[in-house]
Amino acid sequence: MCGIVGYSGEDEAAEKIYRGLKKLEYRGYDSAGIATAGNPTVKVEKGTGTIDEAIDSISEAEIDGNVGIGHTRWATHGGVTDENAHPHRSSSGAIAVVHNGIINNYEELKEKHLSGHDFRSETDTEVIPRLIEEKHDELEDFHRAVEAVVEMLEGSYAVVAVKDSGEMAAFKESSPLALGISDGELFLASDVTPFLEHTDKAVFLEDGDVVRIENGDYTIKNSGEEIEREVKHIDWDAEEASKEGHDHFMQKEIKEQPDTVKRAVFQDRSDVEEAIDMIEEADTVYLSGCGTSSYAADLGAKYLREAGYDVISEQSHEMEYWNDHVTEDDLVIAISQSGETADLLSMLGDVDAPVLSIVNVVGSTLARKADHTMYINAGPEIGVASTKAFTAQIAVLKLIAETAEASLKEARNSLIDTAGKIEQTLEDNEETVEEVSDYLQDQDHVYFIGRGKGFEVAKESSLKLKELSYIHSESFPGGEFKHGTIALVEDGTPVVAFMRDEGLEDIFSNAKEAESRGADIIGVGKENVGDFKYFFDIPEDENSEILEVAVFQMLSYRTAVKRGHNPDKPRNLAKSVTVK
Ligand code: F6R
Repeated sequence: MCGIVGYSGEDEAAEKIYRGLKKLEYRGYDSAGIATAGNPTVKVEKGTGTIDEAIDSISEAEIDGNVGIGHTRWATHGGVTDENAHPHRSSSGAIAVVHNGIINNYEELKEKHLSGHDFRSETDTEVIPRLIEEKHDELEDFHRAVEAVVEMLEGSYAVVAVKDSGEMAAFKESSPLALGISDGELFLASDVTPFLEHTDKAVFLEDGDVVRIENGDYTIKNSGEEIEREVKHIDWDAEEASKEGHDHFMQKEIKEQPDTVKRAVFQDRSDVEEAIDMIEEADTVYLSGCGTSSYAADLGAKYLREAGYDVISEQSHEMEYWNDHVTEDDLVIAISQSGETADLLSMLGDVDAPVLSIVNVVGSTLARKADHTMYINAGPEIGVASTKAFTAQIAVLKLIAETAEASLKEARNSLIDTAGKIEQTLEDNEETVEEVSDYLQDQDHVYFIGRGKGFEVAKESSLKLKELSYIHSESFPGGEFKHGTIALVEDGTPVVAFMRDEGLEDIFSNAKEAESRGADIIGVGKENVGDFKYFFDIPEDENSEILEVAVFQMLSYRTAVKRGHNPDKPRNLAKSVTVK
């Protein structure tokens, strides 16, 4: 789960790679590095920390040249050290490689083919440049050497390799890699954001593809045969990926939701109808995702159940253990912002059922693997914690369920109406967000409770708060809290209750049960019917979960900022979790 960039053109490669890596920092930020080649050797600068920390100053760096590679790392094999930072070089230093993914058989490859080698790092990656060099010595051709090494690797990888001669190659298996095509320059990157400012033309490479870059041109081989891949036009605006005056991407992304929810529901009628046909034809519909996307799946299951379908929702990493029950007569609805989440892709790998994917990243692995894909069209989500993607996911799921039950027009209008209330709801709650974030920033534990769809809102709000502010927080169905966890409530323990219409009296009782054990109760709903210490006002709305979530995204954001954390890059997390 790292970000990789490659550049071959007429400009200084290091400068372009640096800018590209900044766009990929959300994929990992333990260490970073850049290597250039062809002028006349391979030059590397790398180190731990963010890209700026790792690469002191690009202009002063002695990494000139028009061909190069870069990497921003989220550690898997080997700790966070300068030696383990990418790029990794061959034993002579003539070949350098950046890699995203895991080489499963690296120990076996070391033993079998690289026994005399003195490895510089603890990574699985370092076998790749060393193997390429060994093969190059044998075959005397860089690209043939790369092709031979691809045959030897097992695992998931997206790799870009350069040689001191300036030759460049890339290959991938189960990890994303896109090729950007501009006049006189070619880019390789984990997603399109690093090259969007230079070109909107991209090829999404497929598993088994090996790209050869020479003299400003590229060719792609798969299974030894030269092939053509479609060049796609990407209509994401590069500006969309910048902060636009906000302190953090997360803040910008929370505020974008009036637009992104609207965009999400402007789906082609044919796409919605195809999704409904797939649901109608299925014996059982399974929804699956991970983290925040799994809460969207849980909500989607509730929407579809209300529309009369047989639906089960399960997080992908757990569903993998029983997915042999899923038959070709069923349907899996796979939900993911990135479309690259390893747990989800791995679970889908074994299922016979058709797959409907609900994805943000265009051309992602999930989008390409699915039988039918609906894009949520949220645009690039740079903040590591999902915000606008979540509300867009639930908007699309609700659109499908309510179109099945009523009509596309009604479903769309109702969601557009909700989107129109997000800004005002955030504004109306601004003061309370400040008061409650002041209060929460000194707390050690917070509990969230909700009933019905309020439980999913509680789960998502709790996850957002803990991952950004590092305050311990848990969520429970309101009815469950008293069956054990209430024992942890002491004087002044914050308990947040989502006071939605479904089970309103019962959730109110649950909040009161906590209060009578000393809890500071915080309510969220249409009106403060009880003696809540704080209360967030949510307007009457058919899709109020979207409004509740938006307010709690902002609360989590503000609490994190007040505690001195960078909400765009929570510790230990990465945007795209491409390992199991
Ligand atoms: C939390 C968050 C994660 C992701 C999860 C799945 O804020 O962003 O829990 O939702 O890692 O990622 P995607 O949606 O890319 O499959």
